[in-house]
Amino acid sequence: MDDTQGRNKNGPGLSRRDFLKGSGASAAATALAQVPLAAAGAAPGALDDDKAVAMGPAAVKLQLQVNGAAVTTSVEPRVTLLDALRNYLDVTGCKRVCDRGSCGACTVLLDGKPIYSCTMLALEAQGKTVQTAEALNADGKLDAVPAAFAQFDAQQCGFCTPGFVVALRAALNQNPKATPAQIEEALAGNICRCGTYEQMRHAIAALCTGGQKKEG
Ligand code: FES
Ligand code: FES
Repeated sequence: MDDTQGRNKNGPGLSRRDFLKGSGASAAATALAQVPLAAAGAAPGALDDDKAVAMGPAAVKLQLQVNGAAVTTSVEPRVTLLDALRNYLDVTGCKRVCDRGSCGACTVLLDGKPIYSCTMLALEAQGKTVQTAEALNADGKLDAVPAAFAQFDAQQCGFCTPGFVVALRAALNQNPKATPAQIEEALAGNICRCGTYEQMRHAIAALCTGGQKKEG
């Protein structure tokens, strides 16, 4: 959780730096011709490299599980998960800031693990669960993480906030007894350009003191 962008060695879920090595924007671009999904007759999520077929550039059917709901739309295979969520499904909690895997504003949970949604093709998310910041206010019940951010005024412009709260929720889900230092390490892939780190540290301290149960 600082501007050094350190690695998340022991943090929860995926190291997003490791994730980038394997599926960064360039990798996503080269994968376009090999995504064998629903439009090719395969079940959603049933990726099989041996049966990869060329797709696009025309739009194909996209089926996702977003915040507990099954949603369907059509996207060109080149569309990232971030853009599919924001521009096709009107799920705007994830923010498009750098669009190149360096800021964390687009962080969502994929099968419970934080990822940069700007570096993943939407078609690759089929068959997995996607959770965005909206999931932290399900049924009007505000999750303890965004509640702590509000309590300690841990945001200014707010563009980074959805990514931070999603990544922090994932960290607490993985280790409800995480220390503030462990939480900060888990947030190494997120940047706040407004510099509200001190307020975030107050929110994190309160969350760690309170002992958070697994949610989401
Ligand atoms: S918008 Fe995805 S990491 Fe910055
Ligand atoms: S509150 Fe503005 S970037 Fe974090």
